[in-house]
Amino acid sequence: MLSTPGRIGVIAALPEELQSLLDAMPDAQAIERAGRTFWVGHLQGRDIVAVLSRIGKVAAATTTTVLLTEMACRQIIFTGVAGGLGPDVRVGDVVVADALVQHDMDASPLFPRYELPGLGVSHLHPPVDLTARVHEVVSEALSPQALSVNGPLKDVHLASLGLGLPRVHRGLIASGDQFVNAAADCDTLRHHLPGVLAVEMEGAAVAQVCHDFDTPYVVLRTISDRADESAHIDFPRFVRAVACRYALVMIEALLRPDRGS
Ligand code: ADE
Repeated sequence: MLSTPGRIGVIAALPEELQSLLDAMPDAQAIERAGRTFWVGHLQGRDIVAVLSRIGKVAAATTTTVLLTEMACRQIIFTGVAGGLGPDVRVGDVVVADALVQHDMDASPLFPRYELPGLGVSHLHPPVDLTARVHEVVSEALSPQALSVNGPLKDVHLASLGLGLPRVHRGLIASGDQFVNAAADCDTLRHHLPGVLAVEMEGAAVAQVCHDFDTPYVVLRTISDRADESAHIDFPRFVRAVACRYALVMIEALLRPDRGS
């Protein structure tokens, strides 16, 4: 993605994340399609279309399809929050997807559980070199230096939210039309999908559309909860003070010309 020329579609899962992108895109112009507002403008000198995904797989698939077909985007970046499933994936960490699966896809006995009928696979993978590079760039963008008193994230007060420094993981994200908030459901996902790091509601749908259109994509998720009954942090405050800040810093870092974009 970083080296692919052309327009980039940036899909935000939360209105607050979209707003933080739009605040950095003063030239953005609105185009209405499919009941959505697509914001066409520039970020880090790149031609961008920013849009809210809406919640769930179908909504995300529609949004992605419009970006690829009507808005002529040549690559997609998705940013949002997710529930942490990996044993060392904590609230405030970030997961870069190197594989995505629809955890509610089950056409058995016609096809094996999780397999995408017609595609012959259950897991979809963004390009390997792309995720490796994204992991590197995002790790640097969220480094202790970036969060230190002189860094660009100096006003992100992690300790006051009870959070540690973010760790950036790379691995499997599971998507489904369900907000997971029970430990038993987490155990089931971990059992059936070994190595799964996070659960959310859109990423694998974006991956499937991008796969069909042979378009590179990146899915980034900041962990907002542990997807179980454990005490949740103040979600609106977390989104405002952490997730939105991380989303903008990560995306700007990915788009920066010195990154080879
Ligand atoms: N997005 C953020 N947290 C989530 C969860 N626990 N389940 C599904 N989607 C999420």
